[in-house]
Amino acid sequence: MHFLLLSYGCQMNRADSDRIRTALIKEGFDETENPSIADVFIVLTCAVRQHAEDRVHGRLWSLARIKREKPWARFVLAGCLAQEHGGELFNTYPFLDLIVGTHQFDMITNLLKEGEKGLFTDDSQDIKPLENPCLIRKDLFKADIPIMRGCNNFCSYCIVPYVRGREVSIPVDDVLREIESLPKTVKEILILGQNVNSYKHKGLDFSDLLKMIAEAFAQGWIRFLTPHPRDFTRDVTEVIASYDNICNQVHLPLQSGSDRILSLMNRGYTLNDYAEKVDIMKGLIPNLSLSTDLITGFPSETEEDFEDTLDCIQRFGFSSAFTYKYSPRKGTKAFDMDGQIEPEVRRERLIRLINAVHNEVTKQTLYQVGRRVKVLIEGRSKHSGTFMGREEGNRVVHIKDAENYIGSIVDVRLTGADGWNLYGEIV
Ligand code: SAH
Ligand code: SF4
Ligand code: F3S
Repeated sequence: MHFLLLSYGCQMNRADSDRIRTALIKEGFDETENPSIADVFIVLTCAVRQHAEDRVHGRLWSLARIKREKPWARFVLAGCLAQEHGGELFNTYPFLDLIVGTHQFDMITNLLKEGEKGLFTDDSQDIKPLENPCLIRKDLFKADIPIMRGCNNFCSYCIVPYVRGREVSIPVDDVLREIESLPKTVKEILILGQNVNSYKHKGLDFSDLLKMIAEAFAQGWIRFLTPHPRDFTRDVTEVIASYDNICNQVHLPLQSGSDRILSLMNRGYTLNDYAEKVDIMKGLIPNLSLSTDLITGFPSETEEDFEDTLDCIQRFGFSSAFTYKYSPRKGTKAFDMDGQIEPEVRRERLIRLINAVHNEVTKQTLYQVGRRVKVLIEGRSKHSGTFMGREEGNRVVHIKDAENYIGSIVDVRLTGADGWNLYGEIV
């Protein structure tokens, strides 16, 4: 039996898909990327914005065609969209065999083996700790390490707490066991949680855990996603500054530059709070690469509020930013707020934001030229004849003649820049 696993959405889904992949392979299934070979199709879905949902729906219609050609094939819809819409999805996509929510993905292998059909989206079940942490990962050189599940923040625009449930920290011992069992090929780990700063287990907080991880993972780099500005403590900054293997890169989602909007978003910090934390980071972490997430057109956002967001891009000198137009999510607080902004205005602000981000990123990238940096070479790049990797600050670097260094961290002299891309030579 061959399975084809499609994963949409965030790194959490990517981490879950490694767990599903491992369980299936251990039970004798083989993985394929070729739909004509596959007997089982599993789609891990995202519901964070309408655009994410639309992509999944598009894919489901193409799977419906495959079902007509291969009526014996089995189809599993899993993840956040499954958790949100549950059984209604059987009405739209009657060819689905299983709809499995975010708390049950551990069950997928057994459900498939037993030929079960139906809906499994009960949110009362917790995911079991890994019995054997030796995961079969899609990526050879990088590994996702979840340290928590769910979210308690209820930012007023966000569906994640509804589809992923309440926050649970994964026990320290389980996290460390997973890190210690990583193959030697892994040169970078990404520590994952919706709000890593609220990690708590047996009196240990995120800064304690980060320190323990830095000690346990000497073979490569450590990044983490996502810290919340409200809970980001000086302790965490100090830990980053004192360990060479923790990257000098922090992704700290600001969302908006207007205090009024931040408060309506229920983010729990002001622009000033954010700026103070960034100042501490910049003071302690040399050559900090700071990236962010920004949203345009949140309900009641005025042109002035939006300009406050634009001003932040230069002020903080972001090295990269994910930019989104506000997407109303049914069931969230913001969905029912007064002052919903016309889609055209949200879109037009997004375009201006993207341009401003592009200008700043180009400037920040150019500042790097001439520096000597460390780069993890990942493989061939789309630019013909070159290889690509990421430097410690997470910027993409294209390098010639790096074939023998794939999967290694090497010293590189940066020789040029163009937009978001850097060019360099191995030294
Ligand atoms: N827990 C993380 C990631 C959340 S989802 C965090 O708090 O940063 C990733 C990003 O998607 C968010 O940071 C936010 O910028 C964006 N996002 C979430 N819900 C959204 C919505 N309804 N509309 C537009 N963007 C949204
Ligand atoms: Fe969503 Fe906010 Fe939780 Fe991030 S912290 S997942 S934006 S509710
Ligand atoms: Fe999407 Fe679920 Fe992640 S909604 S962003 S896949 S937590």
